[in-house]
Amino acid sequence: MVENIVQASRFNPLSPEFRTNPYPFYDALRAAAPVHWMSSIDQEAWFVTSYKEAFSILKDCRFEKRMRIPETSEAYGPLAHIQKNMMLFKNPPDHTRLRMLVSKAFTPHMIERLYPYIEETVNELLHKAQHTGKMELISEFAFPLPVIVITKMLGIPVDDRDQFREWANVLIRTIDLSRTDESLEQGGEVARNLVGYFHSLIGQRRQHPQNDLMSQLIQAEEEGDRLNEDELVAMCILLLVAGHETTMNLIGNGMLSLLQHPQQCEKLRENPALISTAIEEILRYESPTQMTVRFATEDVEIGGKVIRKGQQVYIVLGAANRDPEVFSDPDQLDITRTPNHHLAFGTGIHFCLGAPLARLEAEIAIRTLLQRVPTLKLDTNIPQWRGLIGFRSLHALPVSFEKTR
Ligand code: HEM
Repeated sequence: MVENIVQASRFNPLSPEFRTNPYPFYDALRAAAPVHWMSSIDQEAWFVTSYKEAFSILKDCRFEKRMRIPETSEAYGPLAHIQKNMMLFKNPPDHTRLRMLVSKAFTPHMIERLYPYIEETVNELLHKAQHTGKMELISEFAFPLPVIVITKMLGIPVDDRDQFREWANVLIRTIDLSRTDESLEQGGEVARNLVGYFHSLIGQRRQHPQNDLMSQLIQAEEEGDRLNEDELVAMCILLLVAGHETTMNLIGNGMLSLLQHPQQCEKLRENPALISTAIEEILRYESPTQMTVRFATEDVEIGGKVIRKGQQVYIVLGAANRDPEVFSDPDQLDITRTPNHHLAFGTGIHFCLGAPLARLEAEIAIRTLLQRVPTLKLDTNIPQWRGLIGFRSLHALPVSFEKTR
């Protein structure tokens, strides 16, 4: 009964209220049942909103990843082909093998070495805007930074960068709960272009290896095993898309949260050493990835419910990260919060590969922005969120400040 009330009257992820502030909806769901069966958009699935159950499902090998795109459709075909080879949609042992190979190339050392490049890029982006006294923080700062960094890492030519915003924008919609047949068709078209693009670039790198991630992925070897051509293409696309959408959102959501909480913002400006805990708190408070999906491979009892073999489970990370059982005052932004074991990067075998890179970029971006632009203020009272459900992502974030030379 209670569950039906929540279902009928409150949880409509397509409503403007949900888009503006999904957290009261998550709270209502959690209060009704932390593991909740309901229909949303056009599908029936379990929605998990409590930390304990979210954590345990992510760690449980009885829940697996599945591709959710029909391979038979001609329009979606190229997209399905990429996903079939993508680590994010694989289970052991295939996942273990791919993760091992990519970890040989995508190392903590490689990320540390990027520090000066990220700092220089942040300063250049700010320099461009500093004379004007205003800035659209997403398109002029939070978006270009991760794109510049990941394309540089992969070794993608500078002139091709702009194309990627459009492509990534289409691809993110193909894995969101809000996706439609139209978004899948557009995704198929983009996938075809991306595959062509990367085949040709990988071909060039095979001939002439460079000091970049793509060349290292080509060479990565584990006990005589290597990534094949399809896996290489899928891995480059995964790194490219995963590497910038979410990081852009971390920086954008972070700046919005700080500017909406002037005392917290001031505390961070006065004590930049708090930047690490501040980033963790932003990841918890406005998690860029709000949900992820698994399928039960057998009947599993969890949170007082039985999830049947084959059923789909949405693990709502954004809700788990606001669970009052684990986080005191979960709706308060507290940049000094410790411990802070949020699930913004997932957990278990699919734990985000790029977490150290995302943290580094966000730390440098937000710290530098606060230091270099002390008069920064929001130029809107009503932030505009994109119509995505699984991702928390701003359309735009206009800010202004005193001009400097
Ligand atoms: C704030 C930024 C980021 C957030 C919030 C984020 C979030 C996540 C989450 C939640 C997962 C797990 C998905 C699941 O369990 O179903 C994941 C996986 C992944 N992320 Fe990230 N990510 C971020 C940045 C990055 C960056 C910068 C990269 C790479 C350049 C990256 C690459 C990946 C990859 C390759 C996986 C798949 C790992 C696997 O399947 O083993 N992510 N990310």
